[in-house]
Amino acid sequence: MKVLGIETSCDETAAAVVDGERRILSNLVFSQLEEHRPYGGVVPEIAARSHLDHLDGLISGALAQAGLGFDELNGIAATAGPGLIGGVFVGVMTAKAIAAARGLPFIAVNHLEGHALSVRLSGEADFPFLLLLVSGGHCQLVAVEGVGAYRQLGTTIDDAVGECFDKTAKLLNLGYPGGPAVETAAKGGDGARFALPRPMLGRDTLDFSFSGLKTAVRHKVAALDEPISETDQRDMAASFQAAVADVLADRCARALALFQDDYGRPGPFVVAGGVAANAMLRARLDDVARAAGTVMVAPPPSLCTDNAAMIAWAGLERLQLGLTDSLDFAPRPRWPLQEVRGPTAAAAASERV
Ligand code: KG4
Ligand code: ZN
Repeated sequence: MKVLGIETSCDETAAAVVDGERRILSNLVFSQLEEHRPYGGVVPEIAARSHLDHLDGLISGALAQAGLGFDELNGIAATAGPGLIGGVFVGVMTAKAIAAARGLPFIAVNHLEGHALSVRLSGEADFPFLLLLVSGGHCQLVAVEGVGAYRQLGTTIDDAVGECFDKTAKLLNLGYPGGPAVETAAKGGDGARFALPRPMLGRDTLDFSFSGLKTAVRHKVAALDEPISETDQRDMAASFQAAVADVLADRCARALALFQDDYGRPGPFVVAGGVAANAMLRARLDDVARAAGTVMVAPPPSLCTDNAAMIAWAGLERLQLGLTDSLDFAPRPRWPLQEVRGPTAAAAASERV
């Protein structure tokens, strides 16, 4: 089975082909970084136009690299939300057009489900598993019981982790995108120099809060001499990253204990989403997993940040279960993971009809 995946929900235009043997036959990503850089963040209108300009070429390229024509595919999957709606429309309309023209099944993939299942592309996580999903827009702990069976255990009550990395980078003049810049700056920095808060640490909850940490970084940076020195940048980046690591570690340890109670086994413990590309956080979360009697599994960094291989893979898993979508599926700017339907919900819905 071979599926073409399309990703256009933010500022990466991407197309990829994967097969049922978990092989990535092609995985092309065009990053719009340079187009958004002057604005210090993603501009939705620019993103949508850029997807339109680049998507066709990426799809042809992905097929050429996979050595396949449209007729050798078994389905077309596209991110249908959540995300910047102009971009999502571009991807979904393109996928629907190919599906209609070639008589292929169309699969509307939830972007978060793409992240959630991405680790299964390397074959490392059987259901059920505990997932920490950390990206630019999300920070959630989820019990993943199967395709379309997502039980949220905790979520951020304010900001997402990736967003905090991006804000911190901006405050420190480290540029955009923030995550990788903060990680690089933090190397060799003194993580104990700035006393930053660890919001909700030790509290009996699986929710997160990052706005207090973000504000504290802003105040401490404002108190620094201008222009900010390289040492200050490094120390603040390291202090910030240490605070994030402490909070994530605390909450994940709690979630792993709960998962053990609910499912009778300690893991697997999966970390996915753009922030999961961070080597320091990966190492810290691996320690947490080992202490709980399991290991942390995460996709390789290139599959943590937005890509189309994960969308193709989620599409393939859905297709294998007979979960395809009609061509009138409407893209959704907001689409919580818990609302994604799986085989059970789909069967119940068709019985009702
Ligand atoms: O999953 P993703 O590519 O897009 C969303 O679905 O949001 O995640 C992007 C986020 C950005 O906030 C980015 O700064 C962050 O992931 N990120 C990182 C790293 N690489 C990307 N955060 C920390 N360390 C990194 N190495
Ligand atoms: Zn993402």
